[in-house]
Amino acid sequence: MKIKIENSPKKTQLLCGFALEKSDKVLGFPKLDSKTSSAVNQSLKDIDGKLGKLVVIPSIEKNQFQRILIAGIGKKEDITKDTFRQISGKIAQKARELKLKEFSIIVPPTFVNEQISSVTQIVEGSKMALYKFEKFKTEKEANSPDMTIIVSKSNKVTKAIKSAEIVADGAIFTKSIANLPPNECTPSTLADFAKTISKNKMTCKIISKPELKKKGFGGITAVGQGSKNEPKLIILEHNHGSKNEKPIVLVGKAVTFDTGGISLKPGANMDEMKFDKCGGCTVLGIMKAVSELKLPVNVIGIIPSVENMPGGESYRPGDIIKLYSGKTAEILNTDAEGRLILADALAYGEKHYSPKAIIDFATLTGACIIALGTNVAGMISNDEKLSKKIFESSKETTEQIWELPLNQEFMDMIKSDVADMKNMGIGRAAGTITAAAFLRNAIEDTPWTHFDIAGVAWTQTATKEKSYNPKGATGFGVRLILDYLQKM
Ligand code: BES
Ligand code: MG
Ligand code: ZN
Repeated sequence: MKIKIENSPKKTQLLCGFALEKSDKVLGFPKLDSKTSSAVNQSLKDIDGKLGKLVVIPSIEKNQFQRILIAGIGKKEDITKDTFRQISGKIAQKARELKLKEFSIIVPPTFVNEQISSVTQIVEGSKMALYKFEKFKTEKEANSPDMTIIVSKSNKVTKAIKSAEIVADGAIFTKSIANLPPNECTPSTLADFAKTISKNKMTCKIISKPELKKKGFGGITAVGQGSKNEPKLIILEHNHGSKNEKPIVLVGKAVTFDTGGISLKPGANMDEMKFDKCGGCTVLGIMKAVSELKLPVNVIGIIPSVENMPGGESYRPGDIIKLYSGKTAEILNTDAEGRLILADALAYGEKHYSPKAIIDFATLTGACIIALGTNVAGMISNDEKLSKKIFESSKETTEQIWELPLNQEFMDMIKSDVADMKNMGIGRAAGTITAAAFLRNAIEDTPWTHFDIAGVAWTQTATKEKSYNPKGATGFGVRLILDYLQKM
Protein backbone atom coordinates (compact mmCIF):
# COMPACT_ATOMS: atom_id res chain seq x y z
CA MET A 1 0.00 0.00 0.00
CA LYS A 2 1.40 3.35 -1.06
CA ILE A 3 0.36 6.36 1.00
CA LYS A 4 0.02 9.94 -0.29
CA ILE A 5 -0.97 13.17 1.46
CA GLU A 6 -3.19 15.87 -0.07
CA ASN A 7 -4.61 19.09 1.34
CA SER A 8 -7.98 18.55 -0.32
CA PRO A 9 -9.70 15.63 -2.06
CA LYS A 10 -8.84 14.99 -5.72
CA LYS A 11 -10.28 12.55 -8.21
CA THR A 12 -10.63 9.17 -6.47
CA GLN A 13 -12.38 5.82 -6.79
CA LEU A 14 -13.62 6.08 -3.21
CA LEU A 15 -13.83 9.16 -1.03
CA CYS A 16 -14.17 8.18 2.64
CA GLY A 17 -15.25 10.23 5.62
CA PHE A 18 -16.28 9.73 9.23
CA ALA A 19 -19.61 10.64 10.84
CA LEU A 20 -20.47 11.00 14.52
CA GLU A 21 -23.60 9.40 15.92
CA LYS A 22 -26.83 11.30 15.23
CA SER A 23 -24.91 13.91 13.24
CA ASP A 24 -26.15 15.32 9.94
CA LYS A 25 -22.72 15.75 8.39
CA VAL A 26 -19.62 13.84 7.34
CA LEU A 27 -16.63 15.37 9.13
CA GLY A 28 -14.53 17.59 6.88
CA PHE A 29 -16.37 16.57 3.68
CA PRO A 30 -16.18 18.88 0.63
CA LYS A 31 -19.23 20.43 -1.01
CA LEU A 32 -20.94 18.01 -3.38
CA ASP A 33 -23.44 18.44 -6.19
CA SER A 34 -27.01 18.51 -4.98
CA LYS A 35 -28.03 15.01 -6.13
CA THR A 36 -24.95 13.33 -4.59
CA SER A 37 -25.38 15.43 -1.50
CA SER A 38 -28.95 14.28 -0.97
CA ALA A 39 -27.87 10.65 -1.45
CA VAL A 40 -25.18 11.20 1.18
CA ASN A 41 -27.73 12.72 3.56
CA GLN A 42 -30.04 9.75 3.10
CA SER A 43 -27.24 7.26 3.79
CA LEU A 44 -26.12 9.29 6.79
CA LYS A 45 -29.61 8.87 8.25
CA ASP A 46 -29.51 5.13 7.47
CA ILE A 47 -26.37 4.40 9.49
CA ASP A 48 -26.94 7.24 11.98
CA GLY A 49 -23.18 7.44 12.67
CA LYS A 50 -23.38 4.17 14.64
CA LEU A 51 -19.90 2.91 15.55
CA GLY A 52 -18.48 0.55 12.95
CA LYS A 53 -21.29 0.91 10.39
CA LEU A 54 -20.19 1.61 6.82
CA VAL A 55 -22.17 2.67 3.80
CA VAL A 56 -20.97 3.01 0.19
CA ILE A 57 -22.78 5.37 -2.17
CA PRO A 58 -22.18 5.41 -5.91
CA SER A 59 -21.99 9.06 -6.91
CA ILE A 60 -25.07 10.07 -8.84
CA GLU A 61 -23.57 12.35 -11.43
CA LYS A 62 -20.28 11.91 -13.19
CA ASN A 63 -18.04 13.69 -10.73
CA GLN A 64 -14.49 13.26 -9.53
CA PHE A 65 -15.50 10.88 -6.75
CA GLN A 66 -16.59 7.54 -8.23
CA ARG A 67 -17.99 6.37 -4.91
CA ILE A 68 -18.41 7.80 -1.44
CA LEU A 69 -18.03 5.90 1.81
CA ILE A 70 -19.32 7.06 5.16
CA ALA A 71 -18.12 5.37 8.33
CA GLY A 72 -19.88 5.74 11.68
CA ILE A 73 -17.62 6.48 14.64
CA GLY A 74 -20.24 6.59 17.41
CA LYS A 75 -20.57 9.25 20.11
CA LYS A 76 -17.88 11.88 20.40
CA GLU A 77 -17.32 11.18 24.11
CA ASP A 78 -16.81 7.46 23.41
CA ILE A 79 -14.00 7.92 20.90
CA THR A 80 -10.83 6.14 22.01
CA LYS A 81 -7.23 5.96 20.82
CA ASP A 82 -8.33 2.92 18.81
CA THR A 83 -11.50 4.16 17.09
CA PHE A 84 -9.85 5.44 13.91
CA ARG A 85 -7.47 2.47 13.74
CA GLN A 86 -10.39 0.03 13.87
CA ILE A 87 -12.63 1.90 11.43
CA SER A 88 -9.83 2.70 8.97
CA GLY A 89 -9.04 -1.00 8.91
CA LYS A 90 -12.64 -1.70 7.93
CA ILE A 91 -12.54 0.98 5.25
CA ALA A 92 -9.35 -0.44 3.72
CA GLN A 93 -10.86 -3.93 3.70
CA LYS A 94 -13.98 -2.55 2.00
CA ALA A 95 -11.80 -0.90 -0.66
CA ARG A 96 -10.05 -4.21 -1.24
CA GLU A 97 -13.38 -6.04 -1.44
CA LEU A 98 -14.48 -3.55 -4.12
CA LYS A 99 -11.21 -4.34 -5.93
CA LEU A 100 -10.20 -0.67 -6.01
CA LYS A 101 -6.75 0.59 -6.91
CA GLU A 102 -6.89 3.47 -4.45
CA PHE A 103 -9.08 5.34 -1.99
CA SER A 104 -8.97 8.65 -0.08
CA ILE A 105 -9.69 9.24 3.60
CA ILE A 106 -10.54 12.61 5.07
CA VAL A 107 -8.90 13.08 8.47
CA PRO A 108 -11.54 14.41 10.86
CA PRO A 109 -10.99 17.87 12.36
CA THR A 110 -9.03 18.06 15.60
CA PHE A 111 -12.00 18.64 17.86
CA VAL A 112 -12.76 14.93 17.51
CA ASN A 113 -9.31 13.58 18.33
CA GLU A 114 -5.75 14.79 18.47
CA GLN A 115 -4.73 15.07 14.81
CA ILE A 116 -1.40 13.21 14.96
CA SER A 117 -3.08 10.37 16.83
CA SER A 118 -5.85 10.02 14.24
CA VAL A 119 -3.40 10.16 11.32
CA THR A 120 -1.24 7.50 13.01
CA GLN A 121 -4.27 5.33 13.65
CA ILE A 122 -5.50 5.65 10.06
CA VAL A 123 -2.13 4.54 8.67
CA GLU A 124 -1.67 1.68 11.14
CA GLY A 125 -5.25 0.44 10.91
CA SER A 126 -5.49 0.41 7.13
CA LYS A 127 -2.04 -1.12 6.56
CA MET A 128 -2.41 -3.82 9.20
CA ALA A 129 -5.95 -4.70 8.14
CA LEU A 130 -4.82 -5.37 4.58
CA TYR A 131 -2.19 -7.90 5.65
CA LYS A 132 -3.36 -11.40 4.87
CA PHE A 133 -1.51 -14.65 5.55
CA GLU A 134 -1.88 -16.34 2.18
CA LYS A 135 1.64 -17.54 1.49
CA PHE A 136 0.40 -21.11 1.20
CA LYS A 137 -2.80 -20.41 -0.76
CA THR A 138 -2.60 -21.24 -4.44
CA GLU A 139 -5.12 -18.52 -5.26
CA LYS A 140 -4.22 -15.25 -3.63
CA GLU A 141 -6.42 -12.24 -2.92
CA ALA A 142 -3.42 -10.02 -2.30
CA ASN A 143 -4.59 -6.77 -3.97
CA SER A 144 -3.92 -3.88 -1.67
CA PRO A 145 -5.24 -0.48 -2.70
CA ASP A 146 -3.18 2.70 -2.23
CA MET A 147 -4.40 5.37 0.15
CA THR A 148 -4.50 9.16 0.00
CA ILE A 149 -4.81 10.91 3.33
CA ILE A 150 -6.62 14.24 3.14
CA VAL A 151 -5.24 16.54 5.81
CA SER A 152 -3.63 19.97 5.91
CA LYS A 153 0.01 19.22 5.16
CA SER A 154 2.73 19.99 7.69
CA ASN A 155 6.12 18.56 8.59
CA LYS A 156 4.65 17.08 11.73
CA VAL A 157 1.95 15.24 9.80
CA THR A 158 4.36 13.97 7.13
CA LYS A 159 6.69 12.68 9.82
CA ALA A 160 3.88 10.99 11.72
CA ILE A 161 2.71 9.21 8.57
CA LYS A 162 6.20 8.03 7.65
CA SER A 163 6.78 6.77 11.16
CA ALA A 164 3.38 5.04 11.37
CA GLU A 165 4.13 3.26 8.09
CA ILE A 166 7.37 1.84 9.49
CA VAL A 167 5.70 0.87 12.76
CA ALA A 168 2.84 -0.88 10.91
CA ASP A 169 5.36 -2.65 8.67
CA GLY A 170 7.16 -3.85 11.81
CA ALA A 171 3.92 -5.31 13.20
CA ILE A 172 3.09 -6.86 9.82
CA PHE A 173 6.56 -8.42 9.62
CA THR A 174 6.02 -9.91 13.09
CA LYS A 175 2.64 -11.33 12.06
CA SER A 176 3.96 -12.72 8.81
CA ILE A 177 6.75 -14.75 10.42
CA ALA A 178 4.72 -15.70 13.50
CA ASN A 179 2.02 -17.16 11.23
CA LEU A 180 4.46 -19.50 9.48
CA PRO A 181 3.84 -23.22 10.11
CA PRO A 182 6.39 -25.09 12.22
CA ASN A 183 7.66 -27.16 9.28
CA GLU A 184 8.50 -23.95 7.43
CA CYS A 185 9.92 -22.01 10.37
CA THR A 186 12.65 -23.52 12.52
CA PRO A 187 15.21 -21.75 14.71
CA SER A 188 17.54 -21.47 11.72
CA THR A 189 14.75 -19.93 9.59
CA LEU A 190 14.31 -17.26 12.26
CA ALA A 191 18.06 -16.70 12.28
CA ASP A 192 17.90 -16.15 8.50
CA PHE A 193 15.10 -13.60 8.92
CA ALA A 194 17.24 -11.79 11.49
CA LYS A 195 20.16 -11.68 9.03
CA THR A 196 17.88 -10.37 6.27
CA ILE A 197 16.44 -7.48 8.30
CA SER A 198 19.83 -6.53 9.69
CA LYS A 199 21.54 -6.21 6.30
CA ASN A 200 23.32 -2.81 6.12
CA LYS A 201 21.39 -1.69 9.19
CA MET A 202 22.27 -3.67 12.31
CA THR A 203 24.87 -6.15 13.46
CA CYS A 204 23.57 -9.68 13.68
CA LYS A 205 25.17 -12.55 15.53
CA ILE A 206 23.92 -16.12 15.60
CA ILE A 207 25.16 -18.55 18.23
CA SER A 208 24.72 -22.19 17.19
CA LYS A 209 24.52 -25.45 19.13
CA PRO A 210 28.22 -26.29 19.76
CA GLU A 211 28.98 -22.76 20.96
CA LEU A 212 25.81 -22.61 23.06
CA LYS A 213 26.91 -25.78 24.78
CA LYS A 214 30.48 -24.59 25.26
CA LYS A 215 29.49 -21.19 26.64
CA GLY A 216 27.13 -22.62 29.25
CA PHE A 217 23.68 -21.88 27.82
CA GLY A 218 22.30 -24.87 29.71
CA GLY A 219 18.62 -23.92 29.33
CA ILE A 220 18.68 -23.42 25.55
CA THR A 221 20.83 -26.54 25.09
CA ALA A 222 18.56 -28.76 27.21
CA VAL A 223 15.28 -27.68 25.62
CA GLY A 224 16.75 -27.81 22.11
CA GLN A 225 18.39 -31.21 22.37
CA GLY A 226 15.25 -33.22 21.53
CA SER A 227 14.85 -31.76 18.05
CA LYS A 228 16.88 -32.24 14.93
CA ASN A 229 16.15 -28.58 14.19
CA GLU A 230 19.01 -27.24 16.28
CA PRO A 231 18.69 -24.30 18.68
CA LYS A 232 19.95 -20.81 17.82
CA LEU A 233 20.54 -17.71 19.89
CA ILE A 234 19.91 -14.64 17.73
CA ILE A 235 21.43 -11.30 18.69
CA LEU A 236 20.72 -8.01 16.89
CA GLU A 237 22.39 -4.72 17.74
CA HIS A 238 21.15 -1.26 16.80
CA ASN A 239 23.67 1.27 18.06
CA HIS A 240 22.45 4.74 17.12
CA GLY A 241 22.63 6.29 20.57
CA SER A 242 25.71 7.88 22.04
CA LYS A 243 28.64 5.56 22.62
CA ASN A 244 28.55 5.45 26.40
CA GLU A 245 24.78 5.27 26.68
CA LYS A 246 23.59 1.96 28.12
CA PRO A 247 21.29 0.05 25.77
CA ILE A 248 17.77 -1.27 26.15
CA VAL A 249 17.78 -5.05 25.82
CA LEU A 250 14.72 -6.75 24.32
CA VAL A 251 14.36 -10.50 24.78
CA GLY A 252 11.75 -12.72 23.07
CA LYS A 253 10.84 -16.40 23.48
CA ALA A 254 10.92 -18.19 20.13
CA VAL A 255 9.87 -21.82 20.53
CA THR A 256 9.10 -22.63 16.90
CA PHE A 257 6.91 -25.51 18.08
CA ASP A 258 6.05 -26.53 21.64
CA THR A 259 4.88 -30.12 21.93
CA GLY A 260 5.59 -30.04 25.67
CA GLY A 261 8.47 -32.48 25.12
CA ILE A 262 8.46 -35.64 27.28
CA SER A 263 5.73 -33.96 29.39
CA LEU A 264 3.72 -34.08 26.17
CA LYS A 265 0.79 -31.69 25.69
CA PRO A 266 -2.72 -33.05 24.97
CA GLY A 267 -3.54 -33.23 21.26
CA ALA A 268 -6.40 -30.72 21.15
CA ASN A 269 -5.29 -27.41 19.60
CA MET A 270 -1.65 -28.39 19.74
CA ASP A 271 -1.27 -26.83 16.28
CA GLU A 272 -1.57 -23.43 17.99
CA MET A 273 1.83 -24.03 19.56
CA LYS A 274 3.34 -22.82 16.30
CA PHE A 275 2.61 -19.43 17.90
CA ASP A 276 5.00 -20.19 20.75
CA LYS A 277 7.60 -18.20 18.79
CA CYS A 278 5.57 -14.97 18.97
CA GLY A 279 7.71 -13.28 21.64
CA GLY A 280 10.79 -13.65 19.46
CA CYS A 281 8.88 -12.50 16.37
CA THR A 282 7.76 -9.40 18.30
CA VAL A 283 11.38 -8.56 19.08
CA LEU A 284 12.35 -9.06 15.40
CA GLY A 285 9.53 -6.73 14.27
CA ILE A 286 10.57 -4.07 16.80
CA MET A 287 14.24 -4.28 15.75
CA LYS A 288 13.33 -4.00 12.06
CA ALA A 289 11.32 -0.83 12.75
CA VAL A 290 13.90 0.62 15.16
CA SER A 291 16.56 0.34 12.45
CA GLU A 292 14.34 1.78 9.72
CA LEU A 293 13.30 4.68 11.96
CA LYS A 294 16.99 5.15 12.80
CA LEU A 295 15.98 5.83 16.41
CA PRO A 296 18.81 7.64 18.25
CA VAL A 297 19.06 4.97 20.95
CA ASN A 298 20.99 1.79 21.58
CA VAL A 299 18.73 -1.26 21.40
CA ILE A 300 19.72 -4.93 21.52
CA GLY A 301 17.40 -7.77 20.51
CA ILE A 302 18.09 -11.24 21.91
CA ILE A 303 16.03 -14.20 20.72
CA PRO A 304 16.59 -17.69 22.08
CA SER A 305 15.02 -20.10 19.60
CA VAL A 306 14.38 -23.84 19.96
CA GLU A 307 11.91 -26.53 19.03
CA ASN A 308 10.55 -28.44 22.06
CA MET A 309 10.19 -32.07 20.94
CA PRO A 310 9.94 -35.47 22.62
CA GLY A 311 12.46 -38.10 21.55
CA GLY A 312 15.38 -40.25 22.53
CA GLU A 313 17.61 -37.25 23.06
CA SER A 314 15.13 -35.00 24.84
CA TYR A 315 15.71 -33.55 28.27
CA ARG A 316 13.53 -35.15 30.94
CA PRO A 317 11.60 -34.45 34.13
CA GLY A 318 14.09 -35.05 36.92
CA ASP A 319 17.08 -33.65 35.03
CA ILE A 320 19.12 -30.97 36.78
CA ILE A 321 20.69 -28.40 34.45
CA LYS A 322 22.99 -25.42 34.88
CA LEU A 323 21.80 -22.13 33.39
CA TYR A 324 23.91 -19.32 31.89
CA SER A 325 23.54 -17.40 35.18
CA GLY A 326 25.41 -20.21 36.93
CA LYS A 327 22.30 -21.24 38.88
CA THR A 328 21.01 -24.82 38.71
CA ALA A 329 17.44 -25.81 37.86
CA GLU A 330 15.54 -29.01 38.53
CA ILE A 331 13.27 -29.91 35.63
CA LEU A 332 9.85 -31.02 36.85
CA ASN A 333 7.97 -30.48 33.62
CA THR A 334 9.56 -30.27 30.17
CA ASP A 335 6.57 -28.21 29.03
CA ALA A 336 7.79 -25.35 31.22
CA GLU A 337 10.54 -24.77 28.64
CA GLY A 338 10.11 -21.06 27.92
CA ARG A 339 11.52 -19.90 31.25
CA LEU A 340 14.64 -22.04 30.71
CA ILE A 341 15.60 -20.52 27.37
CA LEU A 342 14.63 -17.02 28.52
CA ALA A 343 16.68 -17.32 31.70
CA ASP A 344 19.79 -17.94 29.56
CA ALA A 345 19.00 -15.02 27.26
CA LEU A 346 18.24 -12.61 30.11
CA ALA A 347 21.44 -13.49 31.95
CA TYR A 348 23.45 -13.12 28.75
CA GLY A 349 21.83 -9.74 28.03
CA GLU A 350 22.60 -8.42 31.50
CA LYS A 351 26.16 -9.72 31.56
CA HIS A 352 27.23 -8.56 28.10
CA TYR A 353 25.46 -5.25 27.77
CA SER A 354 24.95 -3.88 31.34
CA PRO A 355 21.68 -2.48 29.99
CA LYS A 356 19.60 0.42 31.25
CA ALA A 357 16.58 -1.89 31.12
CA ILE A 358 15.54 -5.35 29.95
CA ILE A 359 12.11 -6.01 28.48
CA ASP A 360 10.98 -9.50 27.53
CA PHE A 361 8.06 -10.98 25.62
CA ALA A 362 6.93 -14.59 25.91
CA THR A 363 3.92 -16.82 25.34
CA LEU A 364 4.89 -18.20 28.70
CA THR A 365 1.91 -19.63 30.57
CA GLY A 366 -1.58 -20.94 29.94
CA ALA A 367 -2.30 -19.55 33.41
CA CYS A 368 -2.07 -16.02 32.00
CA ILE A 369 -5.08 -16.77 29.77
CA ILE A 370 -7.00 -17.95 32.84
CA ALA A 371 -6.03 -14.83 34.80
CA LEU A 372 -6.41 -12.07 32.19
CA GLY A 373 -8.11 -13.62 29.16
CA THR A 374 -7.13 -13.04 25.56
CA ASN A 375 -7.22 -9.25 25.27
CA VAL A 376 -4.86 -8.21 28.06
CA ALA A 377 -1.20 -9.19 28.46
CA GLY A 378 0.33 -9.88 31.87
CA MET A 379 3.12 -7.56 33.02
CA ILE A 380 5.54 -8.30 35.85
CA SER A 381 8.40 -6.00 36.77
CA ASN A 382 11.07 -5.28 39.36
CA ASP A 383 11.06 -1.57 38.53
CA GLU A 384 8.04 0.67 38.98
CA LYS A 385 9.43 3.51 36.88
CA LEU A 386 9.98 1.25 33.87
CA SER A 387 6.62 -0.53 34.08
CA LYS A 388 4.80 2.79 34.54
CA LYS A 389 6.39 4.24 31.39
CA ILE A 390 5.40 1.22 29.32
CA PHE A 391 1.92 1.37 30.83
CA GLU A 392 1.66 4.96 29.55
CA SER A 393 2.61 3.75 26.08
CA SER A 394 -0.03 1.06 26.26
CA LYS A 395 -2.68 3.74 26.73
CA GLU A 396 -1.47 5.38 23.54
CA THR A 397 -1.33 2.22 21.40
CA THR A 398 -4.30 0.49 23.12
CA GLU A 399 -2.41 -2.77 23.50
CA GLN A 400 -3.79 -3.64 26.92
CA ILE A 401 -1.54 -4.76 29.76
CA TRP A 402 -2.08 -5.42 33.48
CA GLU A 403 0.51 -5.77 36.19
CA LEU A 404 0.75 -8.77 38.51
CA PRO A 405 2.79 -8.76 41.75
CA LEU A 406 6.10 -10.51 42.34
CA ASN A 407 7.01 -10.61 46.01
CA GLN A 408 9.20 -12.98 47.99
CA GLU A 409 6.33 -15.47 48.54
CA PHE A 410 6.37 -16.22 44.84
CA MET A 411 10.15 -16.51 44.71
CA ASP A 412 9.88 -19.07 47.52
CA MET A 413 7.41 -21.15 45.50
CA ILE A 414 10.07 -22.18 42.96
CA LYS A 415 12.68 -23.32 45.49
CA SER A 416 13.88 -26.87 44.83
CA ASP A 417 14.99 -29.56 47.29
CA VAL A 418 17.83 -30.66 45.05
CA ALA A 419 18.82 -27.59 42.97
CA ASP A 420 18.75 -23.77 43.24
CA MET A 421 15.23 -23.71 41.80
CA LYS A 422 12.67 -25.82 39.99
CA ASN A 423 11.01 -25.03 36.70
CA MET A 424 7.47 -24.89 38.07
CA GLY A 425 5.67 -23.59 41.12
CA ILE A 426 3.33 -25.33 43.53
CA GLY A 427 0.62 -26.98 41.45
CA ARG A 428 -1.21 -24.47 39.30
CA ALA A 429 -1.21 -21.67 41.86
CA ALA A 430 -0.15 -18.31 40.38
CA GLY A 431 1.36 -20.01 37.32
CA THR A 432 2.11 -16.76 35.52
CA ILE A 433 3.90 -15.28 38.51
CA THR A 434 5.96 -18.35 39.42
CA ALA A 435 7.17 -18.45 35.79
CA ALA A 436 8.20 -14.80 36.12
CA ALA A 437 9.89 -15.60 39.46
CA PHE A 438 12.09 -18.04 37.58
CA LEU A 439 13.05 -15.29 35.11
CA ARG A 440 13.71 -12.86 37.95
CA ASN A 441 16.37 -15.26 39.26
CA ALA A 442 18.28 -15.01 35.99
CA ILE A 443 19.26 -11.37 36.49
CA GLU A 444 20.70 -9.21 39.25
CA ASP A 445 19.16 -5.78 39.75
CA THR A 446 18.76 -4.40 36.23
CA PRO A 447 15.34 -2.78 35.76
CA TRP A 448 13.29 -5.49 34.05
CA THR A 449 9.77 -5.87 32.77
CA HIS A 450 8.30 -9.14 31.54
CA PHE A 451 5.26 -9.54 29.31
CA ASP A 452 3.33 -12.80 29.24
CA ILE A 453 1.61 -12.65 25.84
CA ALA A 454 0.11 -16.17 25.89
CA GLY A 455 -3.41 -14.74 25.57
CA VAL A 456 -2.82 -11.89 23.15
CA ALA A 457 -0.16 -13.02 20.67
CA TRP A 458 -2.68 -14.56 18.31
CA THR A 459 -6.46 -14.44 17.92
CA GLN A 460 -8.19 -17.09 20.02
CA THR A 461 -11.88 -17.91 20.50
CA ALA A 462 -12.44 -15.23 23.16
CA THR A 463 -10.41 -12.54 21.37
CA LYS A 464 -12.29 -9.32 20.65
CA GLU A 465 -12.55 -8.85 16.91
CA LYS A 466 -10.46 -6.10 15.39
CA SER A 467 -10.24 -5.21 11.72
CA TYR A 468 -6.49 -4.71 11.93
CA ASN A 469 -5.94 -8.06 13.66
CA PRO A 470 -7.47 -10.64 11.33
CA LYS A 471 -7.26 -14.32 12.32
CA GLY A 472 -3.73 -15.40 13.33
CA ALA A 473 -0.78 -13.64 14.94
CA THR A 474 -1.45 -10.09 16.19
CA GLY A 475 2.05 -8.63 16.50
CA PHE A 476 1.21 -7.64 20.08
CA GLY A 477 3.91 -5.50 21.65
CA VAL A 478 5.48 -4.09 18.50
CA ARG A 479 3.57 -0.80 18.51
CA LEU A 480 3.80 -0.69 22.32
CA ILE A 481 7.59 -0.86 22.61
CA LEU A 482 8.14 1.37 19.57
CA ASP A 483 6.02 4.04 21.26
CA TYR A 484 8.08 3.61 24.43
CA LEU A 485 11.39 3.81 22.55
CA GLN A 486 10.31 6.79 20.44
CA LYS A 487 9.47 8.72 23.62
CA MET A 488 12.80 7.92 25.25
N1 BES B 1 3.85 -22.26 25.52
C1 BES B 1 3.26 -22.71 26.70
C2 BES B 1 2.27 -21.70 27.28
C3 BES B 1 1.00 -21.51 26.51
C4 BES B 1 -0.04 -22.40 26.61
C5 BES B 1 0.84 -20.39 25.74
C6 BES B 1 -1.21 -22.19 25.92
C7 BES B 1 -0.33 -20.15 25.06
C8 BES B 1 -1.36 -21.06 25.15
C9 BES B 1 4.33 -22.98 27.76
O1 BES B 1 5.52 -23.44 27.27
C10 BES B 1 3.78 -24.02 28.68
O2 BES B 1 3.54 -25.09 28.21
N2 BES B 1 3.58 -23.68 29.94
C11 BES B 1 3.03 -24.58 30.89
C12 BES B 1 3.77 -24.41 32.19
C13 BES B 1 3.45 -25.46 33.23
C14 BES B 1 3.91 -26.83 32.77
C15 BES B 1 4.13 -25.10 34.53
C16 BES B 1 1.56 -24.24 31.05
O3 BES B 1 1.19 -23.08 30.99
O4 BES B 1 0.76 -25.18 31.17
MG1 MG C 1 5.59 -25.49 27.05
ZN1 ZN D 1 6.05 -22.87 25.38
